[in-house]
Order: sequence, then structure tokens, then C-alpha cells
Amino acid sequence: MTLNVVILAAGQGSRMRSDLPKVLHSVGGCPMVAHVIAAANALEPSKIVIVYGHGGDLVKQAIHGDNLIWAEQAEQKGTGHAVMQALPHLDSASTTLILYGDVPLIKSSTLAELAASAGDRPALLTALLSDPTGYGRVVRSVSGEFERVVEQKDACPQELTINEVNTGVLAVPTDLLMRYLPQVGNSNAQGEYYLPDILPMALQEGLSVNTVAVSDALETEGVNTKVQLAKLERAYQARIVEDLMSAGLSCADPARLDIRGKVTVGRDCFVDVNVVFEGDVVLGDNVVIEPNSLIRSSTIGSGTRICAMSHLEDAVVGENATIGPFARLRPGTRLANKTKIGNFVETKKAVLGEGSKVNHLSYIGDAQLGANVNVGAGTITCNYDGANKFVTTMGDNVFIGSNSTLVAPVEIETDGFVGAGSVVTKTVNQGELAIGRAKQRNISGWKRPVKEAK
Ligand code: UD1
Ligand code: CA
Repeated sequence: MTLNVVILAAGQGSRMRSDLPKVLHSVGGCPMVAHVIAAANALEPSKIVIVYGHGGDLVKQAIHGDNLIWAEQAEQKGTGHAVMQALPHLDSASTTLILYGDVPLIKSSTLAELAASAGDRPALLTALLSDPTGYGRVVRSVSGEFERVVEQKDACPQELTINEVNTGVLAVPTDLLMRYLPQVGNSNAQGEYYLPDILPMALQEGLSVNTVAVSDALETEGVNTKVQLAKLERAYQARIVEDLMSAGLSCADPARLDIRGKVTVGRDCFVDVNVVFEGDVVLGDNVVIEPNSLIRSSTIGSGTRICAMSHLEDAVVGENATIGPFARLRPGTRLANKTKIGNFVETKKAVLGEGSKVNHLSYIGDAQLGANVNVGAGTITCNYDGANKFVTTMGDNVFIGSNSTLVAPVEIETDGFVGAGSVVTKTVNQGELAIGRAKQRNISGWKRPVKEAK
């Protein structure tokens, strides 16, 4: 049967004390509602209706998808009222799955199980909690059949002792939803239209209500405060780091590796403590990442070692390279196999051929280096004249002496050699030695200054 999804995301989130709409707060580097959409999309729904309210424009700007439909709930009058706003967009011959935008850890496998359990009747996802405070309780008959959900504020003392709660996740044949929702009233303690009030209507028609108990209550935990957000962030990190270790990653401490994006690892990679991966990161086989490194949207080839305290962004590093410690690879850095970037080196839009080395204290920006180039300590490519950027080009086997200044646009051809301390402004032809520095003068009989007597 076709599946429609409704995601409730109109809540104000005032307890976050934030200008950002609640569902845009991130878990694992990705907005909470995007996690919910991804879990829903795994079930291939024909459409996803997002019920938005407060800060809706910001949410619409941040979240995209071909199958997304937006429905506004201007005033928050309860979950039943929220789903009412989505009704005009739903297909009567479908099953509707209702989710919350602020419950980011829900798994698609759980949703699939619930949707399969719905069929021609509603199915509710429940959870057993040692402390059910605040949740709607699941009231059952003596024989254990589902009867209704009672909200905390409407419950009698005996109902408050029930540990089985409504998670809010519900699958309903859409034609039933269309018939029942308009009949839901708001004569209750909160004056709200409660979505679970449709369930007794199904029972009255002789239909049963199936329930599925979630195995891990973290899956259905919502976020109302930044403390809860941090708790779910840790749970999410534990979950995905475990997935990566199952895929073969070794890490010094799973709790000190953070993944804010998508990481793919080969065989026998090792990640030391306090490493952060952001965006799409791909590691080949036998890659080692030493402590305190940030790897953002980069690809690292097999056998390469990223030494401690390195910062990579939009970089592609080949195989058997060594980077850092204290290296900064900025966007557009493309390093071939067996390259070396040493400490306190910054690269940007720098392409290095196989075996080339920039070992110490250099800036290599807007540069094309051939193979087996050796760039000495303290070399700077002067790529910017204050208005425009220019390229420095080096052929194979070029040697740049320490503390050289290469004023772009400039080319050092194959086998070119630059003497230490040179300022290079003109082409160095193939095999030439360029020396561009003041000639040394030695002055004999020189007397050192002496301290004046006071
Ligand atoms: C609801 C359930 C309760 C369940 C609990 C699980 C009802 C009446 N109660 O509680 O049984 O145990 O969830 O967390 O359904 N929302 C809107 N518009 C509204 C109201 C809510 O979009 O008018 C959204 C919120 O943004 C949130 C979700 O619906 O994502 C749940 O709202 P919340 O106020 O947290 O839950 P309760 O209604 O208190
Ligand atoms: Ca509420």
C-alpha cells in the first residue's frame, strides 16, 4: 500500500532558548528533522507532509526534498489539530505514518515494523519507561487489549502508575484518519485536540488497534532543551561510531571520535582520540589519524598518516602520504601519492605531484607542483596582489631553497633550483639556478655597541 508521512514540527521549542527553530538544531551535524525525513524516506513514501509553525520559513529554506509538502499550523492547538492541517494533502487510499520532527533517533526498521502492523487498522508505537512522567499513558483492558491513551494532565492517580506510554509515532489507514480527525474535540485539561483520541473511534467501529513496543526508548525520545539535545547527540555518536567499528574501523576511544556527516572507511584504519569528521569523508585502507585532527569533506588514500593537530577541508590526499603534525590543508588541495606536508604548512588550491614535499613552515596557495619537488622551510607563494590571485607553477624535480618568496604569476620549470632566501619574480628555465637575494658583504673591524654608562 502507498505510504504517506506526516511530520509534526510546529512546536515552538521555547525551552531551547534559541533563535533557531527547534527542528533545525543539529544531531551529528544534520538538522533533527532531516534525520526524521531520512528514516521516513527509507520506507519510500509517496509524500512527506511537514506541519510547520514557528520559524517555518527558516525550516523551508534549510530542508529540501522532491517529495516534501509543507502545511502551516499557525496556532498550536494540539497534535490532532496539527495533523488536520496535513489532511488535504493526503491520499485516502494510503497508510499515513505520523512522526515528530524533534525525535531524531527513530530508526527506519522500527517504522517499517509499525507500518506493516497497521494494515487496515491503526498501529501505535509504545514504549515502556521506568519514569513515564509527562507522557500519555496507554490504558489497556483487563485482558490487555488497547483501549485509549490518557494524557498526564487528564489521568487519574491509578492511570499515572502505568509505565507504557504513547511515543507519538502512529500508523493509520488514511481514510480512517480523514473520517475520525474532524470528530476529535478539545474538552480536556489542556483544551487541545489530541491525536490519540482517534483510536477509541476505531475500536467503536469494531476495529482493533495494534501496538508495537519500541526496543530502545532513545529512538522515541524527543528534544525540548539543549540538555536533552546533548544527550541524544551522545547516543547518536555512540550508534554511528559503533556502525563504523562494525565496518572495520579501530578507534582508541569510541567516545572521543565525533562524526558530523558520512564517513566511509576501508580496512584497518585507526583513529586516535579527539578526532572530528565532518561532511563526506572517505578513508582508504590502513589510514591512521592521530589525535586532535579535524577532517572535513576530504578523501584520504590508503596507507596515509594524518599526524596530530591537523586540519583538512575539501582536500584529496593520495596513498602513503604523511600530513602534519600541525598541517592545514584548505579547499582545493590535491596531493598525489607519497607526498609530505609537514608542520605549520598551509596549502590552498595546491596540486602536488607524486613524492613532492613541503616539510616546514610554508604557505603554498594557488600552486601547481610536479613530481618530486622539494620546497624548503619558510617558502611562501605570494598568490595575491591585494586585488587578484595568481598561480605559481613548478615542474618535476624542482628544488626551492628555504625562506624563498615566489611572486606569482611565476614558473619554475623542470629541474629548476632556487637558492635560499630568494625573491623569485621571473621564470626560472629548465635546469637553471635562480638566486634573487642581496649579495653578502663582510665588514672587518666591526665594533659591537656597548651599553651606555648611566
Ligand atoms: C504527545 C502525546 C503524548 C505522547 C507524547 C510523546 C498527544 C495529545 N499527546 O504529547 O500522548 O506521550 O507526545 O512525546 O498527542 N506539535 C505540533 N503542533 C501542535 C502540538 C504539537 O506540531 O499543536 C508537535 C510538536 O512540535 C512535537 C509533537 O507534535 O513535535 C508533540 O508535541 P508535544 O507538545 O511535545 O507532545 P504532547 O502533546 O505533550
Ligand atoms: Ca503539548
